[in-house]
Amino acid sequence: YFLVSIAGLLYALVQLGQPCDCLPPLRAAAEQLRQKDLRISQLQADLRRPPPVPAQPPEPEALPTIYVVTPTYARLVQKAELVRLSQTLSLVPRLHWLLVEDAEGPTPLVSGLLAASGLLFTHLAVLTPKAQRLREGEPGWVRPRGVEQRNRALDWLRSGGGAVGGEKNPPPAGTRGVVYFADDDNTYSRELFEEMRWTRGVSVWPVGLVGGLRFEGPRVQDGRVVGFHTAWEPNRPFPLDMAGFAVALPLLLAKPNAQFDATAPRGHLESSLLSHLVDPKDLEPRAANCTRVLVWHTRTEKPKMKQEEQLQRQGRGSDPAVEV
Ligand SMILES: *[C@@H]1O[C@H](CO)[C@@H](O)[C@H](O)[C@H]1NC(C)=O
Repeated sequence: YFLVSIAGLLYALVQLGQPCDCLPPLRAAAEQLRQKDLRISQLQADLRRPPPVPAQPPEPEALPTIYVVTPTYARLVQKAELVRLSQTLSLVPRLHWLLVEDAEGPTPLVSGLLAASGLLFTHLAVLTPKAQRLREGEPGWVRPRGVEQRNRALDWLRSGGGAVGGEKNPPPAGTRGVVYFADDDNTYSRELFEEMRWTRGVSVWPVGLVGGLRFEGPRVQDGRVVGFHTAWEPNRPFPLDMAGFAVALPLLLAKPNAQFDATAPRGHLESSLLSHLVDPKDLEPRAANCTRVLVWHTRTEKPKMKQEEQLQRQGRGSDPAVEV
């Protein structure tokens, strides 16, 4: 049995040594195996290496708070605008929304929306004085909008009081933060908020679709603001859109007289605040030295209500109990 086995084995070995047409596929298989071995040993080596330290985002508590000031007034598209803005703001950590209604007191629509938003917020309300209000038939630009409301938010930041909902206490002394004036109809990239978060004085960036241009914004050379790209009244001290700058909270608190001037000429509202706060040459350019547009001055079309009015005359208007 032993001899027969050895003979068989020898025969088999001899046969293996013979060239046969089964060799090329075998070689290919061996080559594949070798490649796989190589790959496995590479992977094993990778595993033995300590994993790279992941870029840890800082803890939210370590971040300066972004105070977003939004004036708003009742109109057909108000809720749609506020839902859109609140959901953008929900993407931003460490943010406190100061929503200021142009109304005598809080309205159920805005209170409900804030409560449902999940955001940290302060609800304020102040009615624009009659003399400053836009009159029937006047074009939107003759009087600056939202002045009382933005100033109301500045008052709250400085001394607190008067909040009609949400967080009632102003930021404690020494709070690190930045204040941004975000109207409810613009479009904001979430990236914009990280650009402004570490503002030391006043930071600036371009705004898209404003001033009759593709964008308006600071001109930057060697990392400093040297001028402004604007077509309209370029000699304004700060030819900037409201959405194009943010102010460090400590700076605003250190300059208690800095506020918006309702009587400022057209286009000078931003300058009326900023000239209290900063020299144009000290503006801090953000958004890749002001080469990236991260906020757009979009305008929502006023919806036409012709059919609604027609149905209302027939007593069949849309159910007023349904909030729109
Ligand atoms: C801005 O410009 C300065 C000076 O040219 C440069 O050092 C800096 O890296 C630039 N910053 C960005 C974000 O591109």
